[in-house]
Amino acid sequence: MLIYGKAVSADTRIKLKTEVEEFEKKQGRKPCLAVIIVGEDPASQTYVRNKIAGCAEVGMRSLHYEFADGTPQEKIEQTVKELAADDSVDGILVQLPLPKGYDERKLLSLIPDEKDVDGFSPTNLGLLAMNRPRTISCTPFGIMKLLESTGVSLKGKNAVVIGRSNTVGKPMAMLLLNADCTVTVCHSKTQNLAEITSKADILVAAIGRPRFVTEDMVKDGAIVIDVGINRVDGKLVGDVDFENVENKASFITPVPGGVGPMTITMLLANTLQAAKAKTE
Ligand code: GUN
Repeated sequence: MLIYGKAVSADTRIKLKTEVEEFEKKQGRKPCLAVIIVGEDPASQTYVRNKIAGCAEVGMRSLHYEFADGTPQEKIEQTVKELAADDSVDGILVQLPLPKGYDERKLLSLIPDEKDVDGFSPTNLGLLAMNRPRTISCTPFGIMKLLESTGVSLKGKNAVVIGRSNTVGKPMAMLLLNADCTVTVCHSKTQNLAEITSKADILVAAIGRPRFVTEDMVKDGAIVIDVGINRVDGKLVGDVDFENVENKASFITPVPGGVGPMTITMLLANTLQAAKAKTE
């Protein structure tokens, strides 16, 4: 069965819109997300456009800062500092990756934990590791909502995550662990990968290689979550060989229309949560 991320995302946004209206009525202002992009990478520009459009869709305010590649780091830092000090701004997002030569860690360190709606800060990632989550990285958070939508209990299940990035693989593994799964994290140096993945009740593929996960690597009846967005001959394909794996999986996310739509929706949810947290 397909997991329709697009539909889950649309439902979630309808609920968010109502909550944003309630927030505005009580607080006399809209939640606000500031998005910063450096350079002209077309994929990043598309993501940022969709983030801004997502804000409008649920009735949030957004600020959009575009810097040309080559803008001095200090100038971008100054903008982040101003947004950090601005009480009307609830979330700050720096679109990654930054062009070569920029100090990503330094720039992100200027975003206060309370405004880190990406959940990328050491504090937010650390809180998740301690099962005291505050802001959860958007893609793994969205995946948990998709898993919930299947109605299948996660307790005691074998979950295998392929990929160990700080933005997807690691927070994903921690969320699954917090949900009582037995979690294995695989990566580019993992030996006997297929042996490990074929024991997975839940398999999350976040590798960045088109159709990497083949039928022989998947257990019968597994739930397969495909985080990949790869462009092959002008077509979007995931990290999973969908046509063949589909027959083996109990549930599988398509690409496009699976994980992707949830990421921005969870960013909007995180922004609303950051805005609400200020009023507590
Ligand atoms: N680049 C790709 N995905 C993301 C994301 O979720 N957040 C940010 N800031 N940059 C990204």
